[in-house]
Amino acid sequence: MPITIPEGAKYSRIMSVGAARGSRVVDNAEMCTMIDSTPEWIEQRTGIYERRWVAEGETALTLAVDASRKAIERSGLSVEQIDTVIISTVSHYMNTPSMATLLANELGMPEPAAFDISAACAGFSYGVGMADALVRAGNATHVLVVGSEVLSEYIDITDRSTAFLFGDGAGAVVIGPGDQPAIGPTVWGSDPTAHEVIEIDHWREVEDGRPYIHMEGRAVFRWATTAIAQKTKEALELAGITPEELDVFIPHQANNRITDSMLRHLKLPEDVVVARDIHHMGNTSAASIPLAIEALLESGQATSGQTALIIGFGAGLVYAGQVITLP
Ligand code: UT7
Repeated sequence: MPITIPEGAKYSRIMSVGAARGSRVVDNAEMCTMIDSTPEWIEQRTGIYERRWVAEGETALTLAVDASRKAIERSGLSVEQIDTVIISTVSHYMNTPSMATLLANELGMPEPAAFDISAACAGFSYGVGMADALVRAGNATHVLVVGSEVLSEYIDITDRSTAFLFGDGAGAVVIGPGDQPAIGPTVWGSDPTAHEVIEIDHWREVEDGRPYIHMEGRAVFRWATTAIAQKTKEALELAGITPEELDVFIPHQANNRITDSMLRHLKLPEDVVVARDIHHMGNTSAASIPLAIEALLESGQATSGQTALIIGFGAGLVYAGQVITLP
């Protein structure tokens, strides 16, 4: 007997976005009371002026809940209509249960498919690519895709080359069926030989020992400004969008100098809006792209219906990106 195959939607789209930020603002002056650095060095090397860290009672799960509630409310759907939950996080303390099932429980969802993905700073675009495929294959109708991180808890405060970079936040989108193309082909891949370049696998020798981030910053910088700049170009080309047709560029917020280098590589026109959320958020890994999308829409710098290019890259090393229509 032939197996019955579901019929999916012809197209998928991002319907809405929501965000939540750690409520404690840590500026560079405060950061430099903790590490041997200067605000000027941090600003010039990264573009970070301040970052958000969680305050008492906030966790990667509470941030994910807040961001998801906003995204679902803005989608006009009820929580019962979300049938799939995908979270990208490297900040979840439990191997199991996943953060996705904890989130579904907090939101009161009856029985969604729910799972976490581990693709670090590329995780949001990995999630968007999977949600797009699930909706078009008929295996899901409305997918909640979340990036949520509390990286302040994984910082090695004795390492002045990384401690100032990271922040805490969550961004969520709802992806559902659409009547025209609104999510382009996902360009994704990895450099498995470079798995040691960024790791959260070192353990503090303290009573409540936790792993902390170790990163070879220069190696990641080189990779991002060469191989990933080229992949970014491919995402645009595969979607059939010329640089002149692009409205907004939203790379993972890792370093302003990486963003500038990508801009030179892509030769984007001057009027393309470029995400600079790193100024106030630092690097929030899987959350950085949806946080930047939300900030651009809320501030009016970008508007619904515009064409945006997103690209994430980080630990693995892994990358993913696609052209999207902003919700
Ligand atoms: O999200 C995942 C992906 N991650 C990334 O994309 C991160 C990519 N990498 C970077 O953003 C940059 O490599 C960093 C911001 C991490 C570092 O910037 P850099 O321009 O690559 O600095 P560097 O590591 O080459 O260090 C330059 C100098 C060194 O001194 P010498 O050897 O030239 O005398 C460092 O010791 O700056 C020194 N340095 C600092 N000085 C003041 C390193 N950290 C600091 C500091 N303050 N915090």
